[in-house]
Order: sequence, then C-alpha cells, then structure tokens
Amino acid sequence: MEINKKGRLYIGRESEGGEPVLLKASTLTTHGVIFGMTGSGKTGLGVNMLEEALLGGTPTLILDPKGDMGNILLNFPDSTPDELEPWMDEGKAKRKGVTVADLAAKEAAERRADLAGDGITPERIAALRDNTEFKIYTPGSSIGVPMNVLGSLKAPDLDWQDSAETIRDEIEGLVSSILDLHDC
Ligand SMILES: Nc1ncnc2c1ncn2[C@@H]1O[C@H](COP(=O)(O)OP(=O)(O)OP(=O)(O)O)[C@@H](O)[C@H]1O
Ligand SMILES: [Mg+2]
Repeated sequence: MEINKKGRLYIGRESEGGEPVLLKASTLTTHGVIFGMTGSGKTGLGVNMLEEALLGGTPTLILDPKGDMGNILLNFPDSTPDELEPWMDEGKAKRKGVTVADLAAKEAAERRADLAGDGITPERIAALRDNTEFKIYTPGSSIGVPMNVLGSLKAPDLDWQDSAETIRDEIEGLVSSILDLHDC
C-alpha cells in the first residue's frame, strides 16, 4: 500500500514488512493523548506524528518541558556517518569498545536500512526539511531564540476602579502560570 496519501499520517507498519498504518489527520482536530509505560515508544510516536503533520503542511507548535522534541531538527536525508557522528553517545562507543566514528558508521548503515525497509526515501526526508521552517524558543536560555516571559509581569495599564475584574483575572492567570512552572 502507498504510504504517501494526502490527509494521512504514516505512523508505521502493522508488523515488520507488513501493511503501513495510515492515520487520518482529520481525527486529530481535538485532543489526543499517548499513554504507555516508560520506554514503550510514546516520544517516538509523538515525533513521528509531528513529522508527518509537518510533511503534510500542518504547522505545529510544540511545548516541550522535557526537551526531547528538538530531535526533529536532526533531519538527515542521506544519513551519512559524518552527519550522525556529532550526535553519537561517546559513552555508548566506549562501552562497545569502538570509536565514535565506527559507531556512527554502524548506526548510519542501520538507519538507512530501517528507513528503506519502511519505504521512507531520502527524498521524503528532504521534503520535510525543505518545506518546514524550524524555530526553537528557549525561555531562560540563549541557546535557541531567547524569549522574555518576565516582560508580561508588567502591571497592566488599567484603572482598578473601572477594571478590577480584568486585573484580578490577569493576576490569577500569572500567579497560576508561575506556580505551574515551579511543578515542571
Ligand atoms: N515503534 C517502535 N519500534 C521499535 N522501537 C521503537 C519504537 N518506538 C520507540 N522505539 C524505541 O524504544 C525506545 C524508547 O522509545 P521512546 O523514547 O519513544 O519511549 P517513551 O515511551 O517516550 O519513554 P519515556 O517514558 O522514558 O519517555 C527507543 O530506543 C526507541 O528507539
Ligand atoms: Mg518519552
């Protein structure tokens, strides 16, 4: 079965080499939750669905307190060892008794074979990269595009007599957001 179908997200195969599973994008117009135990593949599925949505031209806004989703930018159509090498885990290479370059070569070959097995061509991966503008905002850090969240703590330019309810709403919203941040 064809994996590139308008309005469908290709989220994998029923089994290795089996039929592709295509999810109707229109089923995702409200809320969705991915449940699963640790290591069961929640993040992988989430990244997969976001990549497919982007490929289909749906803009995405990703809020990522855990910091997993930046990996979507590691988009390497040809998966060459040189491209993967800077992202290899030095500890893993050490544990396996190989150099980082050897590990990159092995993982690049595995990645190319896995992608080919799933029918994902270098052109499909390049299409995602070429048609998407990625931007990472990093409040509290200048690694990405810095974002000033404290600016919104400025007192609103409103008169308490006329706008007490609006100002109370503003205070409540800010205080609960700050308390929520503390929970992250
Ligand atoms: N569909 C899949 N088929 C094979 N391996 C997978 C699949 N999905 C994820 N994995 C592998 O399983 C491991 C855990 O996946 P992932 O990080 O997505 O799990 P998680 O549920 O988000 O875990 P956590 O609860 O720790 O955040 C990774 O090594 C990933 O490559
Ligand atoms: Mg996860």
